[in-house]
Amino acid sequence: MQILVTGGAGYIGTHTCVALLYAGHQVVVIDNFSNSHPQALKRVEAITGQSITCFEGDVGDKALLQRIFSQYEFDGVIHFAGSKAVGESVEKPLMYYCNNVTASQTLIECMLEADVQALVFSSSATVYGDPHTVPIDESFPLAPTNPYGRSKYMVELIMQDTCVAFERFSAIILRYFNPVGAHPSGLIGEDPNGIPNNLMPFIAQVACGKREQLSVFGNDYPTTDGTGVRDYIHVCDLAEGHVAALEQLAANPGSHIINLGTGQGVSVLEMVKAYESASEQPVPYRIAPRRPGDVAKCYANANRAKSLLGWQATRDLTDMVASSWHWQSNNPNGYQGDKE
Ligand code: WQD
Repeated sequence: MQILVTGGAGYIGTHTCVALLYAGHQVVVIDNFSNSHPQALKRVEAITGQSITCFEGDVGDKALLQRIFSQYEFDGVIHFAGSKAVGESVEKPLMYYCNNVTASQTLIECMLEADVQALVFSSSATVYGDPHTVPIDESFPLAPTNPYGRSKYMVELIMQDTCVAFERFSAIILRYFNPVGAHPSGLIGEDPNGIPNNLMPFIAQVACGKREQLSVFGNDYPTTDGTGVRDYIHVCDLAEGHVAALEQLAANPGSHIINLGTGQGVSVLEMVKAYESASEQPVPYRIAPRRPGDVAKCYANANRAKSLLGWQATRDLTDMVASSWHWQSNNPNGYQGDKE
């Protein structure tokens, strides 16, 4: 199938482009490189031996989208493009609603105009807010606690309403838990701008000596060792989940909501220990105060993905930390290290 991947130069986007090309699909990317690097797509081409056409620009640019849709007959769209930092969304809510909600509406309008009827959307477990229990399944109440989570929730509603109004339009909404790790080649991986917000890239930068020590945000949570528990999922598993979703869309018209997680919880200190054994590098840390907005435990009930997509995560914690270290140690400056 011919697929448009928005945000295809990003962390999850590049890994999904690799999975799509490996599965025999053709890929066109649109990306504004605000949180990604053109070199990442060159790396995808090196891994797969196939070329990718990339249009630089914003998904909210209707004229650009219409031009792209006029040049290709897409069978579907995978929509990653958007802003994704919780803290930043609290400071800049209007930017998040513009980049995530308005742009997604523009994309859907252009899809309908071009008779492209299949959409896979990158949502997030953040839409659940602080769950009343774990594991979390897709029927849980939605209570996002920040503009980023609310923007994802709004787009989910827009997609579901569009599927009702346009019976040929189908959407699969994928709620990610915590994507981590990197492609085994070590050529693509997570390359955050500035100080990493997320745990794994921060640990990676401590392990390679780029940062002094990790601050563990709280060790007084009601968990096994007092630190936060999350459902970390290997980015290659996540990418393969997108391919499965796309391939299932034709057989499952309408709108579907699916958690993409492993169903297992891992604590911060368990992650530190796993990273130290995989990298054979120390990861010094200090216990710091809890981070506002953090929940104690968040992990998925992953049964629906298995029953509806025939997909489940197969890579374990060791794969996650070893692949992250392979990427980090080979690319200490991310894609910036490459000659333009
Ligand atoms: C994981 C655990 C922290 C950093 C966020 C977004 C979510 C999704 C994934 C986009 C928590 C602890 C972290 C650090 C720490 N992103 N931690 N020190 O908060 O579960 O989810 O990223 O879709 O939307 O909310 O991930 O990696 O930030 O934190 O102790 O320097 O690590 O307290 O327990 P989170 P995270």
